[in-house]
Amino acid sequence: MLNDSSVDRVVDELQQLADAGTVGQRLPSTRALQARLGVGPVTVQRALGRLVAEGRLVTRPGSGTFIASRRTTHPGDTDWQQVALGPSPVHPSGIDRVVHLADAPGFQLGAGYLDAGLRADTRLAAAISRAARRPDAWASPPAAGLPELRSWFGRQLGADPDHVLITSGSQSALSATMRAILPAGHPVLFATPTYPGALAVARSAGLTPISVPCDAGGIRPDLLRDAFTRTSARLLVIQPTYANPGGRVLAADRRGEVLDICRVAGAFVIEDDYARWLGFAGEQTPPPLFVDDERGQVITIVSLTKILAPSLRVSAVIARGPVMSRIAAMRIVDDFFVSRPLQHTVIELVSGPGWAAQLRAVGAALRERATALVTAVSHELPDCVFVPPLGGISMFVRLPAGVDERTAVAAAARLGVVVSPGRYYTIGEQEAAHLRLSYAGLRAEDVPAAVALLARALRDGPTHPAVDVR
Ligand SMILES: Cc1ncc(COP(=O)(O)O)c(C=O)c1O
Repeated sequence: MLNDSSVDRVVDELQQLADAGTVGQRLPSTRALQARLGVGPVTVQRALGRLVAEGRLVTRPGSGTFIASRRTTHPGDTDWQQVALGPSPVHPSGIDRVVHLADAPGFQLGAGYLDAGLRADTRLAAAISRAARRPDAWASPPAAGLPELRSWFGRQLGADPDHVLITSGSQSALSATMRAILPAGHPVLFATPTYPGALAVARSAGLTPISVPCDAGGIRPDLLRDAFTRTSARLLVIQPTYANPGGRVLAADRRGEVLDICRVAGAFVIEDDYARWLGFAGEQTPPPLFVDDERGQVITIVSLTKILAPSLRVSAVIARGPVMSRIAAMRIVDDFFVSRPLQHTVIELVSGPGWAAQLRAVGAALRERATALVTAVSHELPDCVFVPPLGGISMFVRLPAGVDERTAVAAAARLGVVVSPGRYYTIGEQEAAHLRLSYAGLRAEDVPAAVALLARALRDGPTHPAVDVR
């Protein structure tokens, strides 16, 4: 007998069937459903009709009935969320844009990571497949990281392995470290220009970034001293080696002075050593700042994503004393530990014969690319001011007075050149507009054409006809 309750029951049963299946999968025939559900053909047809009307199933005449996409055709009203969410605690500070720049079409002067041509993807693939086949591959590792990997980082940087904590990329390490040291509401000093991801971390943790400008020798000690006096800050974030965006190095004769100023202020230093393996061929990369520190003031964060691959989310924090316990605890709060196969992959890669060759190849390419960029910018953009990078992947270029940064970035994009706006790398008002030009993702031979287009964009501004760049 046909009644509404039997149709309801069949609707429920069919819905369960659809939920258990995959989108596009064909349902059994009406006859098979009748037998399976113990009802007549009309009940099955009415139940199917209802689910088709609700968009959960689709019928194709002559072919049957199929499971529809789970996307609802009438999205629910989510306006209530705006009221419930209120002001956002998340302050991406431009890093959300920068992170996607590498996907933009055109000449890539905006990349944050090496292009595929400089990566060891084949060796990575072999290493990760060996790592995934280990009998212990999917067990939890020690929370601080695999001892072998901690020892490797320790040897590379000159640290005791007990002072090494394995983390998932330096972005998450910066986040755990800043939040472990300071509760919301505190000021944090940043050597500027700086990396927007670190500013995003600070602001999203409720901290207030304060700018301490750099010159060609890195952070200015006179301004650092003033900043501590004015703010009573307890933390400085600095990139002493090949700072992003300028590629500069903290001058050897400032290292002791900077540490001394921080000691007097009772402040920690986060050393973001993201470019440890991005020195130019033939140059001696300076040692990390923590090797000059005898009091556990400096917390060093070093990452393998830049030299190996962005998706190899492995980095390390080097710290001593109670601050390390706090950071380690914060890491567990955040995400327990770094995936064991990834850690084994790194061990495989860095202990294999290809590692040294990889470092040499990257060092040579970066030198060549940086030289090409410096030459092209000096030639094509004589009114721009910059200090040549000493290593790393980018340089910071001051635009001539009166040039609007947003207009310049948009005009460059229209001509097919991807660049990052300087404002993401600075804090507060700036006297002049800047661009960050990266050579991580552009081969040396493509640099002259890219810079010629950039010069044209700066000359002609937004009046140029658009080319196919979104
Ligand atoms: C200075 C600096 N620090 C940290 C990071 C974060 O890198 P990752 O999380 O891939 O190690 C970046 C990435 O662009 C960076 O430029």
